[in-house]
Amino acid sequence: MKLAIIGTGYVGLVSGTCFAETGNDVICVDVNTEKVAQLRAGKTPIYEPGLENLLVRNIREGRLTFTTSLEEGIKDAEIIFLALPTPPGKDGAADLQYVLQVAADLSKMITSYKVIVNKSTVPVGTAEKVASVLAQNLDTQLFDVVSNPEFLREGVAVEDFLKPDRVVIGTSSERARKLMDELYQPFVRQGNPIYFMDERSSEMTKYAANAYLAMRISFMNEMANLCDRVGANVDMVRVGMGSDSRIGKRFLFAGIGYGGSCFPKDVQALGMTAEEYGYDFKLVNTTTQVNNRQKTILGDKIHNYFGKDLSGKTIALWGLAFKPETDDIREAPALELIRELKAAHATIRAYDPEAMTNVKNTISDEVYFAKDQYDTLENADALIIATEWSEFRNPDFGRMEKLLRQPVIFDGRNVFSLDKMRTLPFYYESMGRPTINATQ
Ligand SMILES: NC(=O)c1ccc[n+]([C@@H]2O[C@H](COP(=O)([O-])OP(=O)(O)OC[C@H]3O[C@@H](n4cnc5c(N)ncnc54)[C@H](O)[C@@H]3O)[C@@H](O)[C@H]2O)c1
Repeated sequence: MKLAIIGTGYVGLVSGTCFAETGNDVICVDVNTEKVAQLRAGKTPIYEPGLENLLVRNIREGRLTFTTSLEEGIKDAEIIFLALPTPPGKDGAADLQYVLQVAADLSKMITSYKVIVNKSTVPVGTAEKVASVLAQNLDTQLFDVVSNPEFLREGVAVEDFLKPDRVVIGTSSERARKLMDELYQPFVRQGNPIYFMDERSSEMTKYAANAYLAMRISFMNEMANLCDRVGANVDMVRVGMGSDSRIGKRFLFAGIGYGGSCFPKDVQALGMTAEEYGYDFKLVNTTTQVNNRQKTILGDKIHNYFGKDLSGKTIALWGLAFKPETDDIREAPALELIRELKAAHATIRAYDPEAMTNVKNTISDEVYFAKDQYDTLENADALIIATEWSEFRNPDFGRMEKLLRQPVIFDGRNVFSLDKMRTLPFYYESMGRPTINATQ
């Protein structure tokens, strides 16, 4: 099939590359000329495991091309995917300006039947809005608008896209349904379902999934805060509750709050949709509040230990990305922590395997960006773990102890086992688990 992907970011690039991988001819369109030049040269502008190999192969096979021209991109396409940003507007609702602008542009270019797919995360009613913008200049026989939310996770995006748990497609058009079904069949050969539904339910499904996952994380974060107070261990509670098949084991890890480009904005946007329809969605609104507070908890622990003023203190930070296996730092808890520690006059030495370039562009001269994880520790008064990259899980503790000025660790992701830490000469404070002070 011939496809156009408009917007070549995390979602557009992964979708376009994976659709090309199953034999489709894909043209990716982006307004960012630098990005398009880089992609044409076979280089991914984002870090996503496995993506560059697929990109290079599909460019070489001639199935994947890139352009800055919308007109050229969509000319021959049967299906046009909109993978455009939907950032929070001033009031927290999703800002649809990019989606609606491209819809308006398309309405002046389309000359034969095309399926326009909203792959961006968009509020209920957006498919109708896009259709009405297109209809301003186009015969309604020439298009169908479909909702097809994307559930990939950054860090495992290629795997998620190639083998999705499910595909959700919202459409009331039989013609569009057939085309979408044909396109997705190669991805569900192992029997995972394609759920067809109406556009509004499909749009809502994406928000329901993200808000529920965010709420689950927030529930465990609050549980961890309570465990801290009552002297329980949230990891024990997690395995105890998670083995109930009604609850399940995944997504129950306590930490320093969720970040990224999706959960924070989607939870807020769902709350705004509810408000727009006169409903106070209390669980959703509270989830945002809980998460905002959770991002401050590790800072509080550090202040409790060192005092309010951190002048003269050097803090080593492992992890900057909002989660492992990505270079995405949007809404990353580590960045808020840096701002808090800098405001208290601490010196920061940070390391992240993939996200340092992005952070340098945001907070450049305020932080020393280390060569590796051990380089951060030199004469530091404490180590903070903010992202649970695998390489942080089994470090050389002897080397760490030698490098640190004080053997103090604040673990925001519960990376180390308490049994292990009891055998080592560190002060070790984590989230919702007893503190170990083996320095005495
Ligand atoms: N990142 C994720 O993990 C994820 C997962 C599921 C859904 N989503 C949703 O997918 C959408 C895109 O997210 P993303 O993370 O890929 O965003 P992104 O910011 O990484 O990418 C968006 C791209 O669109 C381009 N763009 C902006 N205006 C354009 C225009 N007029 N024409 C062509 N290109 C244009 C930008 O240059 C950028 O490359 C959002 O709605 C997001 O909520 C994201």
